[in-house]
Amino acid sequence: MSNNKLECLSVSKLYEKNGNKIWALKNLNLEVKEGEFLAIVGPSGCGKSTLLKLMASLERPTEGKILLDGKELRDPGPERAMVFQYFSLFPWCTVLENVEFGLKMLNVEEDERRERALHYIKLVGLEGFEDYYPRQLSGGMKQRVALARALAVNPEVLLMDEPFGSLDAQTRNFLQAELLKIWEEEKKTIVFVTHSIIEAVYLGDRVVLMTSRPGRVKEVFEIDIERPRDKGSSEFSRVRSEILSSLKKEVLKTISSEYSLDLKEIAEMIR
Ligand SMILES: Nc1ncnc2c1ncn2[C@@H]1O[C@H](COP(=O)(O)OP(=O)(O)O)[C@@H](O)[C@H]1O
Ligand SMILES: [Mg+2]
Repeated sequence: MSNNKLECLSVSKLYEKNGNKIWALKNLNLEVKEGEFLAIVGPSGCGKSTLLKLMASLERPTEGKILLDGKELRDPGPERAMVFQYFSLFPWCTVLENVEFGLKMLNVEEDERRERALHYIKLVGLEGFEDYYPRQLSGGMKQRVALARALAVNPEVLLMDEPFGSLDAQTRNFLQAELLKIWEEEKKTIVFVTHSIIEAVYLGDRVVLMTSRPGRVKEVFEIDIERPRDKGSSEFSRVRSEILSSLKKEVLKTISSEYSLDLKEIAEMIR
């Protein structure tokens, strides 16, 4: 038995827009282990969001397949929950109603619904804000509601697409630490997309670096730093630089092929 929760087998995704064909992903292979916190980074437009949408079955791969517990995925299911960068809350619903929403969809009875929603609202530190509307909350608080809503359906896998990308640095640092605590308590498998290498190294058991479009896995970094990790430590900086230099190489490679320049010329230009 493998301990893979998710497996992407030669996954490719083709988009067609106004007659243009774009391979967002091409032959991507990746395993996410049970209980793992997997962080994904890569150049902008390399297909990170596409990959998460495929894992959530919001879209289907054009080629290849994705397995969950060894079974091929076809449709969205409550065992996978997604958290997006832009707070996808219902503005006309209170915090409580937003968190209860997914449970209603699953036909969870009212008493249990209420109980579970309140539990997760408390877990994300929003006790007392149950009756607030999204517009009355800060960005960080809205993202906590989105997280509570995702957790309330008790998913096995949390798919997070740059969830802290629009928050200020302080709120972001705070929520990163909170998310790790919740991950440890709730034993979820998390796939976390970010464009911040620091965030990826802080959070991930492993960090996956993707190539430029069409996205594939370029390199996988095991992060052996003990938690809680100190972003200022030399060990942390070393790992971060290693990933950064690999990312830089990838970006330079793309520029050099697009503009027919060689790497030396580019290095001169950006020096
Ligand atoms: N629905 C869509 N229709 C057409 N092209 C798309 C669609 N979604 C994404 N793409 C294209 O696929 C590529 C990957 O996009 P995306 O997954 O959003 O990248 P990332 O999240 O890494 O920035 C981009 O070139 C993007 O323009
Ligand atoms: Mg994206």
